[in-house]
Amino acid sequence: MILLLGATGYVGQAFGDELRRRKTPFTAVSRAQVDYTRFDALLSFLRETKPIFLINSAGYTGKPNVDACEIAKADTLAGNTMLPLTIANACAALKIPWGHVSSGCIFSGAKVNQNGTVRQEKNLARPDLMELVEKIPSSIQGFTETDEPNFSFRQMPCSFYSGTKALAEEAIAGIGESYLWRLRIPFDEFDNNRNYLSKVQRYPKVYNNVNSISHRRDFVNACLDLWERRAPFGIYNVTNPGFVTTRHVIEWIEKILKPARRFEFWANDEEFYRVAAKTPRSNCVMDVSKLLAAGVKIRPVEEALEHSLKNWIPETQPK
Ligand SMILES: NC(=O)c1ccc[n+]([C@@H]2O[C@H](COP(=O)([O-])OP(=O)(O)OC[C@H]3O[C@@H](n4cnc5c(N)ncnc54)[C@H](OP(=O)(O)O)[C@@H]3O)[C@@H](O)[C@H]2O)c1
Repeated sequence: MILLLGATGYVGQAFGDELRRRKTPFTAVSRAQVDYTRFDALLSFLRETKPIFLINSAGYTGKPNVDACEIAKADTLAGNTMLPLTIANACAALKIPWGHVSSGCIFSGAKVNQNGTVRQEKNLARPDLMELVEKIPSSIQGFTETDEPNFSFRQMPCSFYSGTKALAEEAIAGIGESYLWRLRIPFDEFDNNRNYLSKVQRYPKVYNNVNSISHRRDFVNACLDLWERRAPFGIYNVTNPGFVTTRHVIEWIEKILKPARRFEFWANDEEFYRVAAKTPRSNCVMDVSKLLAAGVKIRPVEEALEHSLKNWIPETQPK
């Protein structure tokens, strides 16, 4: 049996759906049933139920967005750093392998390959870099699992949320056996205020940047495939291969969904941060070579986006 923590959440629900589809026996527990944030409670529950694998899809994301984490710092630290550390220690004590939903938001920007040299750029929204993204997309490379997070408490500025996610990766390194699955901006065909494709349609104005993103079902499939294939433990970037600009996503939405509204963009970073956002946002490109080399199949981002929009289910319709 697999033990699923955080099954009531946006990502946890997708894990539950996919485990059911695969007919993989699993037990979902909520904090209301077993307070898995407490080491003693979690350890006794693990001793009792003896799962062969544990999935941690619990955490504190901040609602409606990461700005909320700047206020609820204790909850953010408890949910995103202390909880994975507690799970790591409990699982290590009982030799239970496990997987943790980490995040790509511990990076900002991408690696830029120009004139034979590769450098890191933290802000691809800069006009000259955005032009490069549009004209020579092959010059943009993603961060790999061996790159040090550059949007973390060690490399400020970062959001408090991102800081706690990066700290968790550091804190659990070397404890027991685990996968750290880095998710990034989940989306799919189900209109929902947690879905990136719904969010961009609802913002009064859109912020143009460059990102790797993860189709929610593709993400959980890839995570479960890594475990089923018994791929080596460690960190994996789990996004759909490639990257998108928000402007391109809007063009796809206009072409396929043909919404009544017209989309406006923030003029620049200065306007976006002055009016719409408090804490710095991570926008980044991820490299998924390690995931693909492990034999996991995942659709290119353009294919996943097109499929989601062509099969779009508005929130008012039954799913
Ligand atoms: N959504 C994203 O955009 C995104 C992107 C990258 C990474 N992630 C990561 O994916 C994980 C799941 O995110 P999500 O979007 O599914 O979050 P969510 O919808 O808010 O669900 C998280 C679940 O975690 C549990 N939980 C445990 N401790 C908590 C705490 N202190 N505060 C709030 N909930 C807590 C809750 O389940 P019970 O109380 O029922 O146990 C809750 O339903 C998080 O680690 C997040 O950092 C999310």
